[in-house]
Amino acid sequence: MNKQEIIICHNLNENLAQAIDRCPHDKLFVLVDECTRQLCLPLIEHFTCMKEAITICIGAGDIHKNVETLVHVWTELGNNGATRHSLMVNLGGGMVTDLGGFAASTFKRGIKYINIPTTLLAMVDASVGGKTGINFNGLKNEIGVFSPAESVLIDTEFLKSLDKNNILSGYAEMLKHGLISTTEHWAELLKFDMNEIDYKALQALVAKSVQIKENIVEQDPFEKGIRKALNLGHTVGHAFESLALEMNRPVLHGYAVAWGIVCELYFSHLKVGFPKDKLRQTLQFIKEHYGCFVFDCKQYDRLYEFMTHDKKNNAGIINFTLMGEVGDIRINQAATKEEIMDMLDFYRESMGC
Ligand code: GLY
Repeated sequence: MNKQEIIICHNLNENLAQAIDRCPHDKLFVLVDECTRQLCLPLIEHFTCMKEAITICIGAGDIHKNVETLVHVWTELGNNGATRHSLMVNLGGGMVTDLGGFAASTFKRGIKYINIPTTLLAMVDASVGGKTGINFNGLKNEIGVFSPAESVLIDTEFLKSLDKNNILSGYAEMLKHGLISTTEHWAELLKFDMNEIDYKALQALVAKSVQIKENIVEQDPFEKGIRKALNLGHTVGHAFESLALEMNRPVLHGYAVAWGIVCELYFSHLKVGFPKDKLRQTLQFIKEHYGCFVFDCKQYDRLYEFMTHDKKNNAGIINFTLMGEVGDIRINQAATKEEIMDMLDFYRESMGC
């Protein structure tokens, strides 16, 4: 997989012009959703490098991350004369960068694209690492390809207009990066004041977080081994997210990941000795900022069923990424149904829900 260039922007206009210059093209497209068309496009559409760009707009939110929206993007590209030498800029959160990346990577067998993530979640996770795709048949990211953007431009200025819940959602992925990296980075993330956000300090944490993800992706772009570290919290987290959706009370991805981290660190403690004090400190931070996803024991089987769809599973065995310590990653750790039920019990008791 080609290495993508990740730029922490100090001047988006210049950085974008340079990124576009590096991709000779005949036509330029910019993909936005209804939200980023209103809030973010006005910040870049007057740039000289964007003057010729043709805008394609899609519905906002995960419900639009589907095959109908994909067909709409392909159709707009085709109707507006896109060729294999065209270039697309995806301006938005993870839904836009995932779907836009997939549309670009499949149109005429693949055109180049640039990501400009506008949410914290997209900056530290979705837009980096080349995973693209859409939801299908009720399953998240079921169809897609690994295909990196040419460049990812990260400008934390966009975060100033992001609501607190969405900041927290992205922050859960940063916490995950802290757990898989160093005790120092994990500790500074737990210390960060989420109630009084210092955006300059956040920018420095974002840069570190992206670096951690980039290092892992470079070692294992196609998730054959160590990239599974990035799934910490996601086996249970995705099940929470799917159950919440089924119950018509959707939750933000990062919230589900934070709650999943609680379960999976507890299992890490039991199975591979993750220290109890670090489990307690992480749980405390999550409980304070993310609250609790409420469910009862009648829903355990449904959660288990969702976990059986996890992409890390092998021959019907549910596999987890666990931590022996902060930074000590243990991939491919199988869990029995009883162990999963025990994790869910622990979660409900310790989170008080
Ligand atoms: N979001 C996890 C990964 O990119 O591998």
